[in-house]
Amino acid sequence: MICDESVIGRYQSGLQFSPLEDPQSWLFLNKGSANAVFRHVTDDSSFSGKVIRLRLANSKIRTKEIYDYIVDNFSALEDYLPRMDMVTLHQGFVNDLQHSSGVMLNLDDPNGILMDNLFQHPVSTIKLNKHIIFHFNERNDESLFELKPKWLYDPPAEIKYCRNCSLLKYKNEKIITCNLKLLSRDTLDEWCNDIIENLPNQLPGCLTGSEVGMQLKSAMKENFDVIQKIYHLQNRKGFNAHERLLNLKSEDDVDDFLRYSMTLKDMTIVVGLYSKKLTILDLDKKSCSKWKSWQNQEASLSQYYTLPDCQRGLKSCCTRAN
Ligand SMILES: Nc1ncnc2c1ncn2[C@@H]1O[C@H](COP(=O)(O)OP(=O)(O)OP(=O)(O)O)[C@@H](O)[C@H]1O
Ligand SMILES: [Mg+2]
Ligand SMILES: [Zn+2]
Repeated sequence: MICDESVIGRYQSGLQFSPLEDPQSWLFLNKGSANAVFRHVTDDSSFSGKVIRLRLANSKIRTKEIYDYIVDNFSALEDYLPRMDMVTLHQGFVNDLQHSSGVMLNLDDPNGILMDNLFQHPVSTIKLNKHIIFHFNERNDESLFELKPKWLYDPPAEIKYCRNCSLLKYKNEKIITCNLKLLSRDTLDEWCNDIIENLPNQLPGCLTGSEVGMQLKSAMKENFDVIQKIYHLQNRKGFNAHERLLNLKSEDDVDDFLRYSMTLKDMTIVVGLYSKKLTILDLDKKSCSKWKSWQNQEASLSQYYTLPDCQRGLKSCCTRAN
């Protein structure tokens, strides 16, 4: 994919910021398996409402490589990416953040990515499973829905239960719905209903489940085309990710498309229930050195793909959305 001017225009790289020399104005917010996010806490400057995203100590790929990868590969999703500024940091600054948070960071990485803090207002979080989280704003002005859509694909014919449902089952996570229902307008309402049914009766503020359900349906319908876009980017004619993963013999076998689709499968989507604005987070370039763990996981899942009905407990899986 060719990087176009408008994408470059929205990103600024290599900025030098003096407020980034004050580690006390940044507080640890959250982390995943490869990144930690710190929020700016003083409300002076142009940094209020911002977070800085740094690589964890064990991460193989540095910020600049990730930043360049996003700019070069995801122009098709440009409208849904938050503004990202790559900033240069002193090692002492990163070291101080590591010290204050107790989170081990990559001290050799001279860069971080500055973004708007999506979770700026006080929220109550309701996590339905690892991939579906609501962030309710007590003031009811904008609640956020966080989703990891994972594999949006047409499963090969021999697979009865898609990889998302199989993975949740394998990890003993609660199966709320099958994300393949997001791929057809006919099953989109069903997908929303599956989720709303799993919300507790008492919601923060004075929201009701049916109000949230209506907001979610409306927001996801509005963003149907974006989900389709992600589906089309993840899939290529004749590409069978299951087969490709099982047949890898070394990291040299990981081709650019497999690598790219692994990035897309790891993205997080955040949707405003009121504004309906959809934001895509986390399009990190994946290290090919992970090939063996990808393959092992794929092998472990094999038994779930074809479980007979009586054992599967995968009630909500729909293997063919279209
Ligand atoms: N722009 C942002 N505003 C507010 N919070 C954010 C932002 N970006 C990330 N976060 C928070 O930080 C967490 C970790 O970020 P991120 O998903 O980028 O890390 P990761 O290591 O790639 O995670 P994973 O292991 O799930 O891939 C997110 O789950 C989210 O809660
Ligand atoms: Mg990630
Ligand atoms: Zn499924």
